[in-house]
Amino acid sequence: MGWGMKNRLARIIKPDTGRGVMLAVDHGYFLGPTERLEVPRKTIQPLLPYADSLMLTRGVLRTSVDANFPVPVVLRVSGGSSIIGKDLSNEKITTSIKEAIRLNVTALALSIFVGAQYEHESLINLAKLVDEGEEHGIPVLAVTAVGKELEKRDARYLSLACRIAAEFGAHLVKTYYCENFEKVVSSCPVPVIIAGGPKLENEIDALQLTYDALQAGAVGVDMGRNIWQSDFPVSMIKAVRAIVHENASVREAHELFSQLKNTEQSTKTATSV
Ligand code: R5P
Repeated sequence: MGWGMKNRLARIIKPDTGRGVMLAVDHGYFLGPTERLEVPRKTIQPLLPYADSLMLTRGVLRTSVDANFPVPVVLRVSGGSSIIGKDLSNEKITTSIKEAIRLNVTALALSIFVGAQYEHESLINLAKLVDEGEEHGIPVLAVTAVGKELEKRDARYLSLACRIAAEFGAHLVKTYYCENFEKVVSSCPVPVIIAGGPKLENEIDALQLTYDALQAGAVGVDMGRNIWQSDFPVSMIKAVRAIVHENASVREAHELFSQLKNTEQSTKTATSV
């Protein structure tokens, strides 16, 4: 691996802990104004200091993130279908490598849809993106299994999808947590991070998910809704960080969340007066 590629990966997976907290705010590319991400800047800004990296599209990056803030950007460069369209798996590469370089991104992210109608196209998209990334020293994050494919949320399916992503040259794979997750991680020769998925009922459930995934070998999270759809998003991202970077137990992280949320509540009250 070249120096540039290594250096960029080290901005995402921090070398001191071997782990990373990526904040996912790319949902609008197929979901439109997702709940609590209606005004991206408002959602993103308070969380930025606690994100090791930020995953989003160029549109939200340019309009809603301050260029002076030094957060590593993982740019979503695939899309082309919406939640109300015919088939979410029908994606193409939507942002050129030149544009990604102009935006000074740290990594490129693209979805693959193993088992879906457009499986082939999405895998070829990945292959092309990896070729371009290699040329410029920019790592590629492959996102596995969204939309309908999520119905197959088991170790057999997710291992298949993650392994194929790695075989195509992805440098990092994002997938969903499932039972026997260690099988998914051990059969994937590149680092695996987990998405949070739809908002779980309680914060402790998302902390448990994070903890279990790390125990099974994941190197971090690429989490969105379970952070910014919480009533206390800043407290939540800090609690997630405690698990990822400080090896906190679920109980410790939840205690931290409970303490921090009181302060977050007072700040909210003070600013709303
Ligand atoms: C899905 O393809 C998007 O890339 C999201 O970034 C991903 O699902 C992670 O966000 P969440 O934790 O909300 O599932």
